[in-house]
Amino acid sequence: MEEVIVGRVVFRGSRIHGMGGFARTTIRKGTRIIEYVGEQLDKAEAQRRCEAGNVYVFEINDTFDIDGSVDWNPARWINHSCDPNAETDVVDDRVWIIATRTIRPGEEIVYNYNFDLDEYEDYPCNCGAQQCIGFMVAEKHWAEVKRRHGDKRNGKLLTPAAAR
Ligand SMILES: C[S@@+](CC[C@H](N)C(=O)[O-])C[C@H]1O[C@@H](n2cnc3c(N)ncnc32)[C@H](O)[C@@H]1O
Ligand SMILES: [Zn+2]
Repeated sequence: MEEVIVGRVVFRGSRIHGMGGFARTTIRKGTRIIEYVGEQLDKAEAQRRCEAGNVYVFEINDTFDIDGSVDWNPARWINHSCDPNAETDVVDDRVWIIATRTIRPGEEIVYNYNFDLDEYEDYPCNCGAQQCIGFMVAEKHWAEVKRRHGDKRNGKLLTPAAAR
């Protein structure tokens, strides 16, 4: 797929996986980089799609979620990293990707998908960060993941930084 430019972001091929989002300009910490949009779903339909393996469903509030797997949501291309420079935040029922530090031009914009302990093993990580934990799993679970898998997580020998 060719490049797609949306505001401060260019979407193109990524070394991590498929397409990724890259900064076109310096993006300061705290900036709302792009909105994660999608189809609004009631909770029952959201649960049905999650159980069918849809990883683009975002929980918004107690009443509805959104399914971001739509053409008009380029933010769906943003990859996961164990060393993220962004995070997602729900503000007034809208999902924003927000910079958690200064992001330089050309840097890939990444956030932690924050998968739970019951699902991370289906998601091996290829982020390339020195401290990559081997799976796309929330940082609050890293101690447990290390305990479960030792230092051969995801079949790879960990770097000394990640094994700590
Ligand atoms: C929201 S999409 C990200 C966009 C994806 N790069 C694409 O081209 O469709 C999520 C999927 O991308 C892949 N992905 C994202 N981050 C990854 C990572 N750090 N390591 C391996 N695969 C990743 C996984 O297949 C994941 O289910
Ligand atoms: Zn990683």
